[in-house]
Amino acid sequence: MIDSVHTPKGTVIIREASLADVNQFRDLRLFALKDSPTSFSADYRTIFDLPTSYWEDRLKPTVLGTTFFAEGNSKLVGMTGIRRGDSPKTKHGAGIWGVFIRPEWRGLRIAQGLINMCCEWAKLHEVQILKLAVVSTNESAIRLYERSGFIIYGTEPRALYYDNQYFDELWMSRSLFDS
Ligand SMILES: CC(C)(COP(=O)(O)OP(=O)(O)OC[C@H]1O[C@@H](n2cnc3c(N)ncnc32)[C@H](O)[C@@H]1OP(=O)(O)O)[C@@H](O)C(=O)NCCC(=O)NCCS
Repeated sequence: MIDSVHTPKGTVIIREASLADVNQFRDLRLFALKDSPTSFSADYRTIFDLPTSYWEDRLKPTVLGTTFFAEGNSKLVGMTGIRRGDSPKTKHGAGIWGVFIRPEWRGLRIAQGLINMCCEWAKLHEVQILKLAVVSTNESAIRLYERSGFIIYGTEPRALYYDNQYFDELWMSRSLFDS
């Protein structure tokens, strides 16, 4: 699966991950957890210590999910992942995780290209509903998801705890069964 986003900084390729991405994937994900600690539930220090096999396993596409990257100037500048339910009762739904764009590449609608790719993957795999969680103060991400067809359906109080503060998360969904 491949697509592109044309930006004033050049064309950004949106593509599925491959094992060859393992080192850049680790760098990008660790950078994301350090840059935006309240945007993700994963913890930088915990993830930092994991072996290469952890990163390789996460990169392998399966019927349950995959990872997409945005590549600009031959470097990974953004990422996201999608994972569907693994039981017959939940496999019609999938969650989007880890949406991140490097700061110098923000504001160029690259994340929307990644979300669109997740929607394509979901339709191909007959997923009917996509869900994601976003910290309630993350206005640019909420706008991005609303532009991408997601609606807020609930709030999880105190979903994250970081730096002596609690953060609520909004849960958002997008139906795919009639699109
Ligand atoms: C949220 C995020 C993924 C959006 O990615 P993006 O490709 O920049 O998205 P867009 O180009 O659609 O821009 C989204 C908003 O960012 C704002 N923006 C523009 N330039 C920006 C910049 N240089 N830096 C930060 N935000 C900027 C824009 O105002 C835009 O708001 P708008 O909706 O009113 O137009 C990205 O800002 C990011 O990685 N943030 C940190 C991690 C994060 O919060 N992830 C979401 C987890 S749920």
